[in-house]
Amino acid sequence: MLVLGIETSCDETAVALVADGEKVRANVIGSQVEHHRPFGGVVPEIAARAHLELLVPSLDAALTEGGCTYRDVDAVAVTVGPGLAGALLVGVAAAKALALAHDLPLIGVNHLEGHVYATQLEFGRLHLPVVALVVSGGHTSIVLLGADGSFTTLGATVDDAAGEAFDKVARFLGLPYPGGPEIDRLAQEGDPAAIRFPRAMLHDGTYDFSLSGLKTAVVRELRRRDAAGTEVWLPDVAASFTEALVEVQVTKTVAAAVAHDVPTVALVGGVASNSRLRAAMAAACARAGLRLLAPSPVLCTDNGAMIAAAGYNRLAAGERTALDVAADPNLGLGTVPTAPAA
Ligand code: KG4
Ligand code: ZN
Repeated sequence: MLVLGIETSCDETAVALVADGEKVRANVIGSQVEHHRPFGGVVPEIAARAHLELLVPSLDAALTEGGCTYRDVDAVAVTVGPGLAGALLVGVAAAKALALAHDLPLIGVNHLEGHVYATQLEFGRLHLPVVALVVSGGHTSIVLLGADGSFTTLGATVDDAAGEAFDKVARFLGLPYPGGPEIDRLAQEGDPAAIRFPRAMLHDGTYDFSLSGLKTAVVRELRRRDAAGTEVWLPDVAASFTEALVEVQVTKTVAAAVAHDVPTVALVGGVASNSRLRAAMAAACARAGLRLLAPSPVLCTDNGAMIAAAGYNRLAAGERTALDVAADPNLGLGTVPTAPAA
């Protein structure tokens, strides 16, 4: 079954073709970074307008890359939420039009579920149960996918998302948007033990996170050094900040998997491309005897292939989404609006 996946929830206009929920035939990702860089972050109105411009060329490019036409496509999967309202609307409207025009089933996908199912594109069918650390620009959660495919959020950030923390600290350090990859690069040359930043909520017995204090600690430390005339080596700041964030995320994720007797951990979402997070999670999972599924960075950041993969699973389970489905900026995990199969 060939599924066309459309993702427009934030600042990536992405279209992909995936066969049987696992084999990527085309993966077109139109980045809008240049549109948003002058503003230091994603501007919702600009994102929606850029999706309008980029979506049709991206659909054409995906069909060309996949060497097929709409006649070869069996279903259309689209992100219905969570995300930016205007941005989601563009993808949802296009998916509905394609489903109607080509008489194809439509399946609405939760963006976070998409991130989790990105693992299928690299490691084959996801064997449940799994504990997933979903870390992106808008979300930071530890999620338990039960053996029945259900989603339970075990914990989440109580303030900033991890990507948000990376982007805000990067902006403070004078690095260009998006800051996550910039901090990752800078941290390679730094000493992660140079500055001991706080590890909030590390031993509080929950699976929740708090990241705004860490961001503030970075700002305060830089101001303190500046006032004292102490030289600041930015790579040390980047590496030390990353280390504090990573230690809490890795410790809690592994603890959640062990406590729930789950043998597999998935590391997904844009921040899962971070090299230190990947290395630390791999080491911790190996120590705990857990299998780690961490997709390649291109499948961690927003893409249409992950939406097609998640959509395929729901279609295979007999689910269909009604054509009057609305984009939902606040869609919760496990609550994709679906209509029974016709
Ligand atoms: O999943 P994603 O592409 O979009 C959302 O759903 O939010 O995640 C984007 C976030 C941004 O905050 C970006 O700075 C961060 O992922 N990111 C990284 C890295 N690559 C992307 N953060 C840390 N290290 C990276 N290598
Ligand atoms: Zn995302």
